[in-house]
Amino acid sequence: MAPDAPLVELEKVTFTYLGQEKPLFKGLSLRLQKGEWLSITGPSGSGKTSLLRMLYGAVFPLEGEVRVLGTPVDRRSRYRLRRQMGLVFQSFELLPRKTVLENVVYGAEILGWPPRRAREKAEQRLADVGLLPLKDRRPGTLSGGEQQRVGLARALIHEPPLILADEPTGNLDPANARNVFEILWELKERWGSGVVLVTHSRDLVEWSQGQHLELGRL
Ligand SMILES: Nc1ncnc2c1ncn2[C@@H]1O[C@H](COP(=O)(O)OP(=O)(O)O)[C@@H](O)[C@H]1O
Ligand SMILES: [Mg+2]
Repeated sequence: MAPDAPLVELEKVTFTYLGQEKPLFKGLSLRLQKGEWLSITGPSGSGKTSLLRMLYGAVFPLEGEVRVLGTPVDRRSRYRLRRQMGLVFQSFELLPRKTVLENVVYGAEILGWPPRRAREKAEQRLADVGLLPLKDRRPGTLSGGEQQRVGLARALIHEPPLILADEPTGNLDPANARNVFEILWELKERWGSGVVLVTHSRDLVEWSQGQHLELGRL
């Protein structure tokens, strides 16, 4: 990747789901540089999740181009690109029988890391989200905010240059939402990563002081 290549670049992207008449996006262009923050808002059904799915190559545009980390996203490149992304979702999807630490280590196992490195990084990341003292607990014994912080530690174990988050604070009360947001912000600053955050919170959009894309009603 060229050092000054944007992390994300959409050029005149038009996208329509199979069987739908109207395009979800038409001529959509955007650009995210290293260390930048992009908030995406819009009503339910406006295509926020679909836009993220285009960035990680789960769906592809009809026209235009999607480039991530300087590479066009296609059926072949998407797996390599995904390994450089941290994907955070609204539901935490933690494994209930594993401990908090094992859940985070699992994020590294997917990447094929050796156990020792996986454990080391998992402990580091749990410290980053303030949960190292709870590492031997099961997810079911944690609050929602704590569970999402475990999810964050797992998704970001590899210090990804690009973080994609789909309403990660959607299930949280404002205080916990703010907390998760601040952790994301701090890690972005430390690593110089780019962040694309789908959110309903006007407050978060303002706090981020980043770019803002508002998708419209269809
Ligand atoms: N796999 C799919 N096939 C057809 N239509 C879909 C599919 N996924 C989502 N849609 C439609 O695309 C629109 C946007 O969905 P989505 O991206 O999930 O919106 P948002 O995340 O903003 O709520 C909705 O009308 C939804 O019903
Ligand atoms: Mg959605």
